[in-house]
Amino acid sequence: MYDFQFDSADKPTLYADLVAAARGLIHGESDGVANMANVAALLALALPDCNWTGFYRLIGDTLVLGPFAGKPACIRIPLGQGVCGTAAATGETQLVRDVHAFPGHIACDAASASELVVPIKRDGVVIAVIDLDSPTVARFDEEDARGIEALAAVLAGAL
Ligand code: SME
Repeated sequence: MYDFQFDSADKPTLYADLVAAARGLIHGESDGVANMANVAALLALALPDCNWTGFYRLIGDTLVLGPFAGKPACIRIPLGQGVCGTAAATGETQLVRDVHAFPGHIACDAASASELVVPIKRDGVVIAVIDLDSPTVARFDEEDARGIEALAAVLAGAL
């Protein structure tokens, strides 16, 4: 049994604890689906005010839905489309304050108002993205982006 406690009031501590918890969960496990599933659940547990936390995997030139916590979502996103496809195509984190102002945003859950998408790279190549959605505009900031980037670096070898 796992019993995780997170203090969301202090983001540096929150993300240090989140990365440490993720390291613990993936330790010794080589199955990428199992690792993504546990980390998707961990993100939902640790991050307040999120309605979707999960993964898309880059297969060929399409992002394909991976493990997540939240409502059922779009299964395939072409590279370059939406917030996720933009993150995968550019290799850059997408911090979207207001999804309705993002050209081409793909609405999987009508409740989503802001979004953070971070690419996961192995040997410099994008293999997946971490996608976080919130029902609150401007839910995510630079500290969240850096924290999730640290998580992505830890996960790169575990998917
Ligand atoms: N909003 C995303 C699609 C994925 S869902 O948020 C889960 C996008 O624009 O790529």
